Amino acid sequence: MTVPTFPPGFLWGASASAFQTEGAFDADGKGLSGWDAFAAQPGRIKDGTDTTRGTGFHERYREDVALLAGLGADAFRFSISWPRVVPGGSGSLNPAGLDFYDRLVDELCAHGITPAPTLYHWDTPLPLDEAGGWLNRDTAYRFAEYAGMVAERLADRVPMWITINEPAEVTMLGYALGEHAPGRTLLFDALPAAHHQLLAHGLAVRALRAAGAGNIGISLSHSPVWTAGDTDEDRAGAELYDTLTNWLFADPVLTGRYPDEGFAALMPGPVEDDLKIISVPLDWYGVNYYNPTLVGAPRPEALDSFSGYSMPSGLPFGIREIEGYDTTDFGWPVVPQGLAETLGQLRDRFGDRLPPVYITENGCAVDEPVADGRRIAFLEGHLEALRTAIDAGVDVRGYFTWSLTDNVEWTEGASKRFGLVHIDYETLRRTPKESYAWYRDVIRAQRTGGPSLTPGEHAPG
Ligand code: FCB
Repeated sequence: MTVPTFPPGFLWGASASAFQTEGAFDADGKGLSGWDAFAAQPGRIKDGTDTTRGTGFHERYREDVALLAGLGADAFRFSISWPRVVPGGSGSLNPAGLDFYDRLVDELCAHGITPAPTLYHWDTPLPLDEAGGWLNRDTAYRFAEYAGMVAERLADRVPMWITINEPAEVTMLGYALGEHAPGRTLLFDALPAAHHQLLAHGLAVRALRAAGAGNIGISLSHSPVWTAGDTDEDRAGAELYDTLTNWLFADPVLTGRYPDEGFAALMPGPVEDDLKIISVPLDWYGVNYYNPTLVGAPRPEALDSFSGYSMPSGLPFGIREIEGYDTTDFGWPVVPQGLAETLGQLRDRFGDRLPPVYITENGCAVDEPVADGRRIAFLEGHLEALRTAIDAGVDVRGYFTWSLTDNVEWTEGASKRFGLVHIDYETLRRTPKESYAWYRDVIRAQRTGGPSLTPGEHAPG
């Protein structure tokens, strides 16, 4: 397989997030996040990783920026820790916390790398979580205030912004199933957390623009839902799951409507007015893609563990295992064409309402420390599928792989490795993997318009 050529100006990047990398969980006046508290509960982090150290990014960010520069990356998507900037969740700013991002942005700019910060990648300030987190409408307003304060300081140098990362995962894993912070098990009563994150997004777009920031998007996870079986119950289960995980978030943002009147009726507050805020036009739309999902009618033999997360019984759909594909070391099926499928769905569903797309996350867990040929194969397949989607008329402007370095994979701890760069968690030493050299050569070949690469052609890191 070769890596196709992408349109001129296509942006090549890598992604990361604050909780997963920074460490320094209480340095320089940082407040605790809901994830700090959740991870400290016994048994929450499956492999017992001490999440307070991350990858040491807060100390070693210059090393990681040098690694990005070595890749020839155009852009770096990182996240800003809300409790580092506003330790109490509301009220005064922690200047020392914001200084860190100021330094990071300067370092990136000095290397010609576009800083693309995400304002919320799941680390809610603990005091807000304790007051109900995203179940509480007030959290949305506090988020917009924080977004405005960050933009006041950084908008002069940051040309690309992301409000919120994957509100679907926060809602499902954090509020419905209790597998992530804040560990609530509300099932369908978790829906207000979805609405308030969407409201927070819309309010933050306004606040960012008011503070002079432009080029704003959101990162939503998308998984094409495949129907298991061919009964009406199977189709209903798959459709419900598709609505809940894909369109409950994309539709309000891009069309100003919820996809389903029943779910809309469960949302709190002045929903119609909120939807006007939520659907404020965006400059671009971020897609995180990992794999499709196979769903049918609820059945006793439905997967009780999906992507490592347990699913309770009694849900109105049943998730099944996708067979016949390679799997990553997370057990996720490797289905590159699912990326083209998901982008085609977005184009068909939203037409002109879909702004230019960036892939803001795509990658895989591979355990091999350095010889990660399976990651190269994964990324090659997905870039091929991405090019197919572009040829089919989807306006995709850039690709951020997840992730620059190995990092703390939430409740999986350090045991799932998504990085182009290996982290030794004892020493925090960084070692580029084979995929790092490969990605560097892909980016270089795009620049020179040189021949596409074939596996094995790249020089060692
Ligand atoms: C996404 C998250 C990201 C990372 C990848 C593997 O859902 O946004 O932080 O954990 O999955």
